[in-house]
Amino acid sequence: MSKGKYYISTPIYYPSSNLHIGHTYCTVMADAMARFKRLSGYDVHFLTGTDEHGQKIETIAKEKGVTPQEYVDGVVAGIKDLWKTMEISYDDFIRTTEDRHVKRVQEIFMKMYDKGDIYKGEYEGMYCTPCESFWTESQLVDGKCPDCGRPVQKAKEEAYFFKLSKYADKLLELYETNPEFLMPDSRRNEMTAFIKQGLEDLCVSRSTFDWGIPVPVDEKHVIYVWLDALTNYITALGYPDAPEQYDKYWPANVHLVGKEIVRFHSIIWPAMLMSIEVPLPKQVLGHGWLLLGGEKVSKSKAAKGSDVIDPVVLIERYGIDALKYFLLREYTFGQDGMFTNEVMLKRMNYDLANDLGNLLSRTVSMIEKYNGGFVPDPQGEETDIDKELKEIATTAGKKVEEHMDKFEFNLALDKIWEAVRRANKYIDENMPWVLAKNEADKPRLDTVLHNLAEVLRIVSVLIYPFMHTTSDKMRKQLGLWYADVVWEDAFTFDMMSGEQVKKGAAIFPRLDIEKELEELYAMNAPKEENIPLELKDDIEFDDFDKIDLRVGTILEAEKHPKADKLLVFQVQMGTEKRQIISGVANYFKPEECVGKNVIVVANLKPRKLRGLESKGMIIFADDIADGKEVLKFVTTDANNGNPVA
Ligand code: ME8
Ligand code: MG
Repeated sequence: MSKGKYYISTPIYYPSSNLHIGHTYCTVMADAMARFKRLSGYDVHFLTGTDEHGQKIETIAKEKGVTPQEYVDGVVAGIKDLWKTMEISYDDFIRTTEDRHVKRVQEIFMKMYDKGDIYKGEYEGMYCTPCESFWTESQLVDGKCPDCGRPVQKAKEEAYFFKLSKYADKLLELYETNPEFLMPDSRRNEMTAFIKQGLEDLCVSRSTFDWGIPVPVDEKHVIYVWLDALTNYITALGYPDAPEQYDKYWPANVHLVGKEIVRFHSIIWPAMLMSIEVPLPKQVLGHGWLLLGGEKVSKSKAAKGSDVIDPVVLIERYGIDALKYFLLREYTFGQDGMFTNEVMLKRMNYDLANDLGNLLSRTVSMIEKYNGGFVPDPQGEETDIDKELKEIATTAGKKVEEHMDKFEFNLALDKIWEAVRRANKYIDENMPWVLAKNEADKPRLDTVLHNLAEVLRIVSVLIYPFMHTTSDKMRKQLGLWYADVVWEDAFTFDMMSGEQVKKGAAIFPRLDIEKELEELYAMNAPKEENIPLELKDDIEFDDFDKIDLRVGTILEAEKHPKADKLLVFQVQMGTEKRQIISGVANYFKPEECVGKNVIVVANLKPRKLRGLESKGMIIFADDIADGKEVLKFVTTDANNGNPVA
């Protein structure tokens, strides 16, 4: 009997390049939730897909010398392969280049247009191509995109506008009367502030490139890629012309999205739905970012790090379940978290190989050795530790339900692991190998083996939404290969008597972390290749010639008294001795700088840094050491004062 419907979506990712660990993180969360809801008796619809139009895709395809469609077809095939390998249980995969989507987007655009919510005007402002987002001058941070920090371009073109401003009050009212609509609270506060600054009408068409869905009333224009993309959540359900699934599943229970696109989902999307008079999704949930060396994991930054972020590589080496477990257990929903190969490998080893793997292999071995492979009946009175073990195991399911309600995957898993860890301790407390030596202790031994088998059975049910393959492997060893996984079974403690267990391979082999790290880092080591670097714009020789570079010798170095990050250098340059301050205190101890013969930008205008004058700038090179970003000296053995050119 169904408990009702549950519709969950991920963002539809840009097929601008292969997906990385950040996209995988979001999809793995959505998959775990979909599987959890199915197992709990819901009729689930899980939607994912790809967002294939826009300027960014058109530009990349041009660079590669293929059509945009050819380009996205290739990348999307890879994305579908990845999800297939990972056994992501989506019910539908929408591509925005599919006919079913294109025609419905046009219909939705026309509904907004006919309502008078879309009008023609001229756009003049900034555009961030990686984010495909419009900004006003005043919204920029240091002249760059406030979302991703990359440079923006000026855009000035005839365009259609959506009367977003008209919906500002309704949106504020929505957040107020229905705070659950946008979670976590911090995201809602940000969006409230954003709206209160004043919402401008949104430019919803572009005419300076072609790769998009044509505006039905004006074929010179293509529909803005975010308007196109957001509608996927209903076009995939057949809205408006084939509404069978739409009637069944809309409104969505959750749009799961990264925090950087919460704005689109909690302001633009509901306003669009208000305009076409469609009910709003129940919830937009903004998850945090995986960070690499302090920055968001992203394709352009991937090359800099020495941590492997390609899910395909990680799955091949460690398996799907280990990767999924790590992503779900390590990070706190809604917050950012550091990604490194080392934290990943430690999680895999400690929680999976040690805690869970050992519990299963020890228990199954002992049942084979001490009871012929059959799970015994419990005997005699329950002791306090029996009661405690049973209590922890049979109440874990309830706790998992409570945490899953709040998308607290890490806490849900932790509750399951409380049972796993308690059972491992239970083995040590009872020492079955000692009990086995004395015939009089056989009843106690039976109880201990029985209880351990029960805990493992319960764990095999509880982990199913997160790691179904591991659950299957466990159940095979526990002799439960024939039985369906039923969520309610996690609340009982008397199902294992008489089952025949059978030892199998270790479910999670132990990893040699040092060796793995070395091999992973080696994969990211520089290769011999000739792909042009991404550089700043070309300059004229005259521009370069304005810079006076000189050799300097660092005579003294000390910490800046008023700024932790700064080092104050006394530098000899020929006849002149001068003071130069650099923001490198995190990378060098003062004493290791003394004596270095460095290159100095000698004619840089002097400036004061926290009260001390700095005259010129020392040149350093970026590098990576032990997986962290560091700086290195650029040195020469030429005499100080000499020009460098
Ligand atoms: O924004 N950490 O697509 P996109 C965590 N096409 N999650 C990350 C991440 C990271 N470092 N990097 C990416 C788009 N993600 C639009 C969406 S929806 C109508 C249109 C995840 O390819 C996260 O879920 O840039 C983020 O929101 C999404 O990938 C962005 O993927
Ligand atoms: Mg993005």
